[in-house]
Amino acid sequence: MPALNADDRLQAFFDLCPDLACIRDRDGYFQELNGVWEQVSGWSLPELRSRSWWDFIHPDDVEMTWELEQQSAEHPPRCPLQYKHRFLCKNGSYRWLTWRWSPPREGICLGIARDVTERQWRGSSDYRNTVREAVKLRDRAIEASTVGIVIADATLPDMPLIYVNPAFERITGYSAAEVLGTNCRFLQGEENQQPVLDDLRAAIKAGESCTVILRNYRKDGKFFWNELAISPIYDDRGILTHFVGVQSDVSDRIQAEQALRREKHKSDRLLLNILPETIAEQLKEARGTLAEQYSNTAILFADLVGFTPFSAQMQPLELVSILNDIFSRFDRLAEKHGVEKIKTIGDAYLAAGGLPIPREDSLEAIANMALEMPDEIQKFNDSTGQNLQLRIGIETGVVVAGVIGIKKFIYDLWGDTVNTASRMESQGQPGKIQVTERVARLLPKKYILERRGIISIKGKGRMTTYWLIGSQ
Ligand SMILES: Cc1cc2nc3c(=O)[nH]c(=O)nc-3n(C[C@H](O)[C@H](O)[C@H](O)COP(=O)(O)O)c2cc1C
Repeated sequence: MPALNADDRLQAFFDLCPDLACIRDRDGYFQELNGVWEQVSGWSLPELRSRSWWDFIHPDDVEMTWELEQQSAEHPPRCPLQYKHRFLCKNGSYRWLTWRWSPPREGICLGIARDVTERQWRGSSDYRNTVREAVKLRDRAIEASTVGIVIADATLPDMPLIYVNPAFERITGYSAAEVLGTNCRFLQGEENQQPVLDDLRAAIKAGESCTVILRNYRKDGKFFWNELAISPIYDDRGILTHFVGVQSDVSDRIQAEQALRREKHKSDRLLLNILPETIAEQLKEARGTLAEQYSNTAILFADLVGFTPFSAQMQPLELVSILNDIFSRFDRLAEKHGVEKIKTIGDAYLAAGGLPIPREDSLEAIANMALEMPDEIQKFNDSTGQNLQLRIGIETGVVVAGVIGIKKFIYDLWGDTVNTASRMESQGQPGKIQVTERVARLLPKKYILERRGIISIKGKGRMTTYWLIGSQ
């Protein structure tokens, strides 16, 4: 490889130099400049070459620069001439440059400058004042904060508090003097096994941020909900040095949320008293029409025989109280057999099996309930000295069930199966359970049935019906 000549070597150094390198002639014009000039000053190299070097120097620095240059020209120093001045950039701002000039030879000087604007600004009293003001402002902001702010030293054993702001003192009732040097866990009182503490411990161990809501106690023993957010602080070497904790008393919010949950629970329970759970859920989500067809249902009608004359001698309130007693017994039976109570109609009771959640044994469930209902009436009669009797009718088949309309929701049933069950009841006999032929056919063998015969059913014509007597 041929050796580089002196010019090429100089050029290579020029181009590689990370600082501003230049050669200036005796008239003060740049002869050579490296590319760094363009990055620092914003001028293009031709623009820099087109004007005298002196044009770029800050007016306040020209005199000082001139004197130093003169002295150097008169008594050329052995070492490079050094000084610092401000250099005009294309955008009108000035940048501080520290210069090193070679002694002039035949009017030519080689110079290297370094941009020290940042360092100059940091060392200036303006900068120090700005920083001092900013720090003061930050301290005031922390003191004025309405949330508690604490700093714990992560380099000391047990991470003691080294700073607490006035809001922390207000929230907890403890003064800074009382708590500095201790770990913040004292706020938990006896409750140091709260499940959320596991998250907090894990975050502290991993040196990570975390937000938890803790049960804490003030100095006066009063309980409060503390929303605590901790954040780690790492030094320049990546070592965890501190944790900052921000505390807010969120008791009002938590209590409001708890009250809201209680109210919701209450209203949910009320709603479930009126509607089956699945229907209530759909209604809450306002999902389309709520009437659905169910193919395998069993419908039961039960009527209190003789209740009308019996009730004629009674005060309305007393009457309702008796009905309430009897129907509550039936409600408990419905619950026991997994049957849906649909409604009461005067002194009649309507229940259905196999909806809104379909089940294979809906007919058996209804039959079992029907067989236990007379016992409940007997118990009522025994305790009150009355002589009420029940007439029950059952049919099985397809019904449509759901909630219709936009007010006073009620889960109701429609269809021929419902009408037939009603006829089985109304054309039955006191103390008996009348069922259709279909019911008799579909009921398992263990049920005891007795053929009643063919009867004329209003609106349906002649039908064979059975009495459901019991089960083995
Ligand atoms: C910066 C910081 C602030 C904390 N502030 C509270 C606080 O306000 N209330 C509290 O119950 N625990 C607070 N803790 C948590 C406890 O100091 C402690 O870390 C926690 O109880 C788990 O540690 P332990 O298992 O040793 O008790 C804070 C932790 C840190 C790091």
